[in-house]
This record gives sequence, C-alpha cells and structure tokens, in this order.
Amino acid sequence: MSTTHNVRIFCSDLDGTLLGESSSTEDFSKRWKSLESAKPLLIYSTGRLHDDALKVITEAGLPEADFLVSGVGTMIHDLSTESFNEDFAALLDESWQRDLVHQILKGLEGIMAQPEIQQHRWKSSWFWQDREEAQIEALRETLEAAATGAQVVYSSDRDLDVIPMRANKGNALKWLCEKLGIPTSTAVVAGDSGNDASMFLVDGVRGIAPANSEPALLAAIKNADHFHSSASCAAGVVQGFQHLGLFKS
Ligand code: GLC
Ligand code: MG
Repeated sequence: MSTTHNVRIFCSDLDGTLLGESSSTEDFSKRWKSLESAKPLLIYSTGRLHDDALKVITEAGLPEADFLVSGVGTMIHDLSTESFNEDFAALLDESWQRDLVHQILKGLEGIMAQPEIQQHRWKSSWFWQDREEAQIEALRETLEAAATGAQVVYSSDRDLDVIPMRANKGNALKWLCEKLGIPTSTAVVAGDSGNDASMFLVDGVRGIAPANSEPALLAAIKNADHFHSSASCAAGVVQGFQHLGLFKS
C-alpha cells in the first residue's frame, strides 16, 4: 500500500473491524483521540441502522465521528448537526422497486427475511446461507431483468442485502468526498466483509483489511491498494495506521 499521500478521511466499518475485541477497540480509540494536528475526518460505515449503530459506538467508547453511513450505504447522517442527508437519499429512489424486490426474494429457495428491525425503505435484508457466487450473480440478473433498480450485496456467507443501485458503502463515501471537496485519494477505508468491498474499490482509496477479513472480501479487493494486517479487528486497523505513518508504533 502506498504511504505517500496525506490522509484526510478515515472511513471504517464497525463490526469485525473497529469492534470485536474490546481491548483493541480501546487501544484504537485512545490512539485516535490523541492524534494531534490535522486529524482526518472520521466516518463510520456500517450495515446496522442509524440508532443501533450509535448505540454500539457509544457503548464501545469509540471516538465521535463526523459522519455515519448506515444501512449498508443507504443513509448518511452528519453527526455534528445530527442531520439526515436528504440529498443523498433523493438519489436512491431512482427506479428502486422495493415491493418488487421483496416479491422476487421471498420466492428463493432457502431464504429467510432478516428481522423487521433490519429493514427499511432502501434496504431489503435476508439470510441466505452459503450461496455460490453463481447464485448471487443469477439473482443480480433476475433483479436487473425485472427493472428493480436494485443491487445485491452478499456478506459473511449469509447476509444478503438488496439496496438501491446508487447506494452501497463505496458510493456513499464517494458522494461524501465529492460534497466535501476532498479527493478520494486522501481517504483510507477499513473493513472485513463483503459489504465493505465497494469502499476498497473507490478510485484512489487505500484500504486496511484486518486479519479476520472474510476470503470473499479479500478476493474482491485483490487488485485494490490495501494493507492486509496480521492482527484482527481494531488491532489490525492500528497496524494499518502504523504502516501509513498515522500512528507511531
Ligand atoms: C449488519 C446488518 C444486516 C446486514 C449485514 C451485512 O449485520 O444488521 O442487516 O445484512 O450487516 O450487510
Ligand atoms: Mg464488518
């Protein structure tokens, strides 16, 4: 991973990345809080919905972030003003047919809807265990042929999120960078599972994949500029930051 550019944004997943091992989460938080001048903007990007994400961030003692991207890149909140970003939301309705998505998905063999609390207007989430890439691809084609305006994000050999075409963690990050006038080449991302792949694939970003990253993520990002840590969860992120020179050893 190249270490020649300044880092102006750090955009990180929560579960399995900054969360998962409480002692390394604490270590990361302490080091982040003591970063001196020119601290990067901090964005958390998670599959959890907004309130649930805020709750775990507080419970874990993670640093306060500038933005929260929730629901697998379907919602952006500016945390300094606690405001929901309507401009990003307005893009998502474009040709998005949630009811049609639901009809198609519920007919699949072996599928089960995730609890109601995980669902919202722009996120239809399911459990669909151990699917081959070919099955996920076939589902993508079916949704496209039915003009649902949907994309499929598959994580952890189990979680299936169907979200609007303009959403996902990578598109949300790209959109925010554009709005803020910050080049994506100054962004560092971190994540451990399938729904993080789109962040690593944003042009110019550098990625950190902790040791516990799932093989499907590593396969998806094999050509993207990233650091594969030998430590897990937040300790892996700390290692990536040391590699970038953001944290001293
Ligand atoms: C989180 C969400 C879940 C989603 C998964 C993968 O666990 O709660 O709904 O399917 O992330 O994106
Ligand atoms: Mg994760």
